[in-house]
Amino acid sequence: MSVTDKAQRPLRDLRISVTDRCNFRCRYCMPAEIFGANYAFLPREEILRFGEIEMIARSLVSVGVRKLRLTGGEPLMRRDLDVLIRRLATIEGVDDVAMTTNGSLLTANAQKLAEAGLHRVTVSLDALDNAIFGKMNGVGAKADRVIEGVDAALAAGLGVKINTVVQKGINESELLPLAQFAHERNISIRYIEFMDTGNTNGWKHEQVVPSLKVLEKLQEHFSLEPVTNVAIGETAKRYHVEGHDGFEVGFISSVSKPFCRDCNRMRLSADGHLYTCLFAHSGYDIKTPLREGETHQQLVSRVSMLWRARDDRYSELRSEGMAPIAKKEMSYLGG
Ligand code: GTP
Ligand code: 5AD
Ligand code: SF4
Ligand code: SF4
Repeated sequence: MSVTDKAQRPLRDLRISVTDRCNFRCRYCMPAEIFGANYAFLPREEILRFGEIEMIARSLVSVGVRKLRLTGGEPLMRRDLDVLIRRLATIEGVDDVAMTTNGSLLTANAQKLAEAGLHRVTVSLDALDNAIFGKMNGVGAKADRVIEGVDAALAAGLGVKINTVVQKGINESELLPLAQFAHERNISIRYIEFMDTGNTNGWKHEQVVPSLKVLEKLQEHFSLEPVTNVAIGETAKRYHVEGHDGFEVGFISSVSKPFCRDCNRMRLSADGHLYTCLFAHSGYDIKTPLREGETHQQLVSRVSMLWRARDDRYSELRSEGMAPIAKKEMSYLGG
């Protein structure tokens, strides 16, 4: 069965990109040779202001969104992010406010973000070894700095998950040490199959390590059992170890096992376009009508129509060899 039944996909999750900039240049996301000094990032006036983000979020919460996730680029590159979090966390109907970050600026910010109402962070960490990590992030940043950020987030009382993108021949040696790192801290780690996001990361199928292979490797060291409390729309297939409640290992297998059927996510780019798929080639301009004075009610009907009309299933199409080619970059769209 390949045609996804739209009726099964309520909208629950809004990912808000607050900037398209990042202080890292991960090869799988913003390769330095493309995102160099001459790259045209979004001009300031095109970027949504906090009040505009809040209005759009409110309209989406009216049609079912319960979870807000701040992304980028690197969200902590946006000044005064705690001010935005405070506004979003108090929207009635929102029960989860999260952020996906590279963790490099967390040590200085974790406490402030937690106080503003952030519930949890997902920190990207592809290796513990500084040399491997430095190569993957493209700017030589040390894993130690991100580890410090993870510990600062935990100390501030934030929920923490680790995201690890797996690339064949690059960080396979780091996968077990990373699981041990998560185990020691009693937190979740998710391994993500390298994806063909955007048009510039040079993705090749041969560079993907199927999640099953990673699971087999980890099972040699941990007695991993599938988790049974699975929510609709979850991206990861999760496993736990009995007696270790916080520690989980998840696999996000958009290449080997697409999960479009239950996809309940909408994305808002930093310049105010809504995207109904991570692999979409175009978005829906919501900023213009907003700046022209549309009311909350008008925005609500707009976003509701957009969601009802959606029939995205990119990862399934990729599996069928029918994926469209032109896509937006993930650094622009948000993870
Ligand atoms: P939780 O709320 O913590 O379960 O988060 P999540 O898994 O929904 O979000 P997170 O941003 O941590 O997602 C992890 C990664 O999964 C992302 O960074 C992407 O790489 C990938 N991912 C998330 N959503 C999608 C999606 O809709 N499609 C595809 N193909 N990949 C996705
Ligand atoms: N494939 C898989 N995951 C990716 N991410 C960014 N680009 C890719 C890609 N091409 C992940 C990052 C981070 C989140 C924002 O998305 O590692 O965890
Ligand atoms: Fe920056 Fe995250 Fe992209 Fe890496 S994956 S370049 S940290 S936005
Ligand atoms: Fe959703 Fe598109 Fe990802 Fe499929 S590929 S899960 S439709 S965002």
